[in-house]
Amino acid sequence: MFNIRLQKYLAHAGIASRRHAEEMIKQGRVVVNGDVVTEMGVMVDPINAEVEVDGKPVNPAKKKIYIVLNKPIGYISTASDDRGRKTVMELVSDIPHRIYPVGRLDYDTEGLLFMTNDGDFTYTLTHPKHNVEKTYVTHVSGNVTMEIIDSLRNGIELDGYKTSPAKVEVVGATQYGTKIEITIHEGKNRQVRNMFEAVGLKVNKLRRTREGGVAVGKIALGKWRNLSESEVNLLKKGGIKSDKTNTSRTKRGAGWAKSKPKTVAKRRRS
Ligand code: URA
Repeated sequence: MFNIRLQKYLAHAGIASRRHAEEMIKQGRVVVNGDVVTEMGVMVDPINAEVEVDGKPVNPAKKKIYIVLNKPIGYISTASDDRGRKTVMELVSDIPHRIYPVGRLDYDTEGLLFMTNDGDFTYTLTHPKHNVEKTYVTHVSGNVTMEIIDSLRNGIELDGYKTSPAKVEVVGATQYGTKIEITIHEGKNRQVRNMFEAVGLKVNKLRRTREGGVAVGKIALGKWRNLSESEVNLLKKGGIKSDKTNTSRTKRGAGWAKSKPKTVAKRRRS
């Protein structure tokens, strides 16, 4: 049997994606045959190596676990937090396997968070090339105009890049503000919040409801369920692919703010 790179070994063992495994190695969390490894490039014998992460033995042959958690606000979606905040790991401590969040959900965002010990699954769902769709319900305050909705749909400038076309629908109004559903297939840090902020709307509440065609549904906040086999198989292919855009002009309905009519310059005949 050939030796393999330590980060590949950890990904195959379902500990983390290769990229995340590299971070773990740099952080000194990985021990191979009794020695802490912090350098990249270390090769291990996948059958006989004794590898530990955070003091726990790694077993590459272990069962794969796939769950969907309904994350409450006030939990950080990483395995540990240097500021001592609660982590989502506390919500899944009844699962006798080491599982990790698939991507991130902000401390102040609630809703769908997949967790698994399958590094390839995490890679598929988080790598930008797979364009996995994520749907969020936001409650915003500010003047929600048709022009704003159209610009969110068409893409807006954020920190030097233009966001890809998004599906955006105004779905109602609540005590937290205008309720807007947005579906994006990118995953930049705080992207939804930054998009709304960029168009002058304040996000009062943010909840992820779907990812790759799987919905969080009626799971109570702080609880989780196993993904079904068909959901896992779907997500391993990057989830349902629907048309990415909904850039048709918005029609005014109930709950809309009035915007000033645009002045359209007369075109000169040449
Ligand atoms: N976009 C955000 O702004 N926050 C999240 O947690 C997820 C997407």
